[in-house]
Amino acid sequence: MSVPINKSALVSYLDPMSAASEAYRSLRANLRFGAEDPSTILVTSSLHGEGKTTTVSNLAIAYAQEGHKVILIDAHWKIPRLHQVFSVSNKIGLSDVLLQRHSVDESVCNTSIANLSLLTSGPLQQYSTQLICSDQVISLIEKLRKTYNFIFFDSPPVLQSTDAQIIAALCDGVLLVIKSGKTRQGHIAQAINRLEQIKAPVLGVVLNDKKRSRAISL
Ligand SMILES: Nc1ncnc2c1ncn2[C@@H]1O[C@H](COP(=O)(O)OP(=O)(O)OP(=O)(O)O)[C@@H](O)[C@H]1O
Ligand SMILES: [Mg+2]
Repeated sequence: MSVPINKSALVSYLDPMSAASEAYRSLRANLRFGAEDPSTILVTSSLHGEGKTTTVSNLAIAYAQEGHKVILIDAHWKIPRLHQVFSVSNKIGLSDVLLQRHSVDESVCNTSIANLSLLTSGPLQQYSTQLICSDQVISLIEKLRKTYNFIFFDSPPVLQSTDAQIIAALCDGVLLVIKSGKTRQGHIAQAINRLEQIKAPVLGVVLNDKKRSRAISL
């Protein structure tokens, strides 16, 4: 049975004692490599619908619940979802920041979850594939680092958009989501290959929606 997106994407908030929430906390713990705790993380997958938004939302919540200041950014222009997940407006967002129509401060909004802020995608632009360029993303990350301990990006599938690759190359780490029983091995290999080509630091793979064990593992 499929769970409505805002429910599965917010399970860590809505049902913190659930097995799913525990799995996201365990994923968070696995990402803490001693002194090296990656602070900018992009979550992607090979193709559509594999659980990027669900994973990045719950992971960001797990970090926020530890008391860190966290921002979640929706860089999936064509199918933005984070504004729906967190029930906020998408009138102003990342596209406005990149086009310098609004400042970062004007564009970031609070969520109902303590310590978690959101930068929605913003309105879809006609040429939004050209919006993302490395220099702007570097400058955005630099600005956000002054306020937030951790920065998470939701993204398009890495095999279908170069945006994910551009951002991946600038993050401390990338997580590749695989949908249990659905994502094909060939697509996983191609996605990892794309990420390796741009020297993106792949931290691991998240096995999502694994029915029997109800677990999500690295
Ligand atoms: N672990 C899970 N348990 C239950 N439902 C899930 C799980 N992961 C994802 N889903 C559901 O699967 C659908 C796709 O998930 P999600 O939106 O997170 O994928 P996505 O990779 O972000 O998709 P897109 O490529 O369209 O951005 C949603 O309806 C979501 O609620
Ligand atoms: Mg998504």
